[in-house]
Amino acid sequence: MLDQRSLLGVADLAPAGALAILDLAEEYVALNRRRDKKRGVLRGLTQINLFFEPSTRTQASFELAGKRLGADVMNMSVGSSAVKKGETLVDTAVTLNAMHPDILVVRHAMSGAVALLAQKVNCAVVNAGDGAHEHPTQALLDALTIRRRKGRLSRLTVAICGDILHSRVARSNIALLDKMENRVRVIAPSTLLPPEIDRWRVEVFHDMKAGLEGADVVMMLRLQTERMSGGFIPSVREFHHRYGLDHEKLAAAKPDAIVMHPGPMNRGVEIDALVADDLERSVIREQVEMGVAVRMAVLDLLARNIPGEGAA
Ligand code: CP
Repeated sequence: MLDQRSLLGVADLAPAGALAILDLAEEYVALNRRRDKKRGVLRGLTQINLFFEPSTRTQASFELAGKRLGADVMNMSVGSSAVKKGETLVDTAVTLNAMHPDILVVRHAMSGAVALLAQKVNCAVVNAGDGAHEHPTQALLDALTIRRRKGRLSRLTVAICGDILHSRVARSNIALLDKMENRVRVIAPSTLLPPEIDRWRVEVFHDMKAGLEGADVVMMLRLQTERMSGGFIPSVREFHHRYGLDHEKLAAAKPDAIVMHPGPMNRGVEIDALVADDLERSVIREQVEMGVAVRMAVLDLLARNIPGEGAA
């Protein structure tokens, strides 16, 4: 069970809570493979998806998750909303709150924006990614994928590679994998590591083959060029040469190591198409499938804490 109203980050998720989500998600994986995918656990509830940044996987899977569980789901079109007329995040939150939603799913470009919004509303809030801070449901779906493929979620060596600096996926994964007692490595040029990296519970590598040596899981990250305004890398070609995952570099990992990527991928930049599409090693499509199940589990567990009739 989850004893919290909202899911803002892995940081405030106890290991037991994370495992409860993964265990329930397993049931939803089975449900989603059936012809009848509907359950009524969110019947009567209103879910609003409020995405201030682009998304394919996260927004679509939260929409499917809410609908499969019986909620009324509304996708706010931020591009045609009053945000375009200058309405602030807080005013947008207060306005939506007046319509009595039960769950808000929010993505925003600023770290901390989702937590700020959560203070202004009296419904459940799920962080669907805030700046370079957290993307908790991505870490949970990654954890479910790893547990299904490796048979456990502890005592694994996980290498997270590429643009660590701008990655909320890396931060949430590191937090969750550490809670589950894994060995986490980051592999990146020093320009794509945060200044506080020394305080993170990770081993740092600048060379792919050294960092991938003996890894059970290889997690590639998207090079987030849209968040870069200067010389983070000499060139995309040089970055690909040193940090792009191909079969030659992957050979340093364990022979049964799995390859992950949160998407969207830059093929030929951080990952070669031949590796991304190698179904012996790549679990990228499975990550997408797990995303729907994990988000159903998160919505279901949070909804159990929503007060019933007569409550304020
Ligand atoms: N992994 C992820 O967050 O993908 P989207 O940006 O498509 O939601």
